[in-house]
Amino acid sequence: MPKLVWGSQMSVHIKVIDAQHQEILEALNVLDNAVQLGCEKGVLTSTFEALVKYVGAHFSTEEILMIRFSYPGYEMHTKEHRNCTSKVLEFWEEFNSGNKALPQELVAFLSSWLDNHMVNMDQQYSLYFKEKGFLSQISG
Ligand SMILES: [Fe+2]
Ligand SMILES: [Fe+2]
Repeated sequence: MPKLVWGSQMSVHIKVIDAQHQEILEALNVLDNAVQLGCEKGVLTSTFEALVKYVGAHFSTEEILMIRFSYPGYEMHTKEHRNCTSKVLEFWEEFNSGNKALPQELVAFLSSWLDNHMVNMDQQYSLYFKEKGFLSQISG
């Protein structure tokens, strides 16, 4: 599976969020490497926990901004965040109950989810903030 790398087409033109997206992709690659190298469960768990922490903090940042600027797509967007979070946690619970193949599936799921979400859903609020003239208030 090719590594998901941050590119300018993913930029939402908000510094803190672009940095978070990059941080998440790096954490995902660290987990991917740990899986590829056959690292033990303790290593997989700590890299997974770091990833979940970054993702959780990131979703909150986006949701707070959407509320602050009355983004009309808030409900739909946060629903996607919730679905992703519960799917990831589901994968992990299964892994903890003994399914060793799960981290690899989790990395594949999250890579494709993030790729799709960042270039579609996240771009939509970015466009809204830009059109309404909010971007300068956020990144300035
Ligand atoms: Fe998002
Ligand atoms: Fe995002």
